[in-house]
Amino acid sequence: MRHHNTKSIEELFNSISSKYDFLNDIFSFGLHRLWKRRLLDILKPTFGEKWIDLCCGTGDMSILLARYMNSSENIIGMDSASKALLVAKERSKQNYSSIEWINGDALKTNLPSDQFDGLLMAYGLRNLASYYEGLREAFRILKPGGRAGILDFRSFEGPSIQGLFQKVFLSLYVVPISSLFGLGKEYSYIKKSLVKFPSGEKQIHLALSAGFKKAKYQKLANGQMGVLVLEA
Ligand SMILES: C[S@@+](CC[C@H](N)C(=O)[O-])C[C@H]1O[C@@H](n2cnc3c(N)ncnc32)[C@H](O)[C@@H]1O
Repeated sequence: MRHHNTKSIEELFNSISSKYDFLNDIFSFGLHRLWKRRLLDILKPTFGEKWIDLCCGTGDMSILLARYMNSSENIIGMDSASKALLVAKERSKQNYSSIEWINGDALKTNLPSDQFDGLLMAYGLRNLASYYEGLREAFRILKPGGRAGILDFRSFEGPSIQGLFQKVFLSLYVVPISSLFGLGKEYSYIKKSLVKFPSGEKQIHLALSAGFKKAKYQKLANGQMGVLVLEA
């Protein structure tokens, strides 16, 4: 089942790439860094391992990973939006120049199978045209026993206070502020993308059916975010 059109998603992220980091800090009050750091604490990437950051965008997760591992060797950041990768290349060139940035599709990476010890995806899965195909491709490129962490907004099923808070936050904070920067239409996409995005429980089932041996879901940020933690 296809949830989005890959080409229009690529155009959307190319169009917001220059303001993406700035707005990300405003919308999360800078807390996205803490959540990304938490993802690394859960997965514990270790010096010498080979990791990939899929849907890396402007590269902050990949750079955080390099810092965590005390090395930027053996790290690949992949994204389909070439303009986001230009930002990533620029910000990494001084201290993290060994990170390899690849303009590619997370659904079809064209990378050999069984080669990564670990895989990260921050706020990427929700944007993929097929969640199942994305998880299947992630499983394929991981070594047996390799681990993956997928961080994203939590999707709520049925009415709940937390779900209501998320809707209100997106409609009354994110969209109006992004509109001030001429990007209201682009950012209203977040709310739309959450409509079809599976709940944590459903993500677990999807990951297991994509081949992963183990899957669990951990809530973050008072339940507004979640991490799907996987073992291949
Ligand atoms: C919300 S941004 C997240 C960027 C970054 N990981 C972060 O946490 O800030 C989603 C990213 O997914 C990328 N993306 C969407 N579909 C993709 C695909 N099929 N293949 C590769 N990247 C994709 C977009 O270009 C965008 O940069």
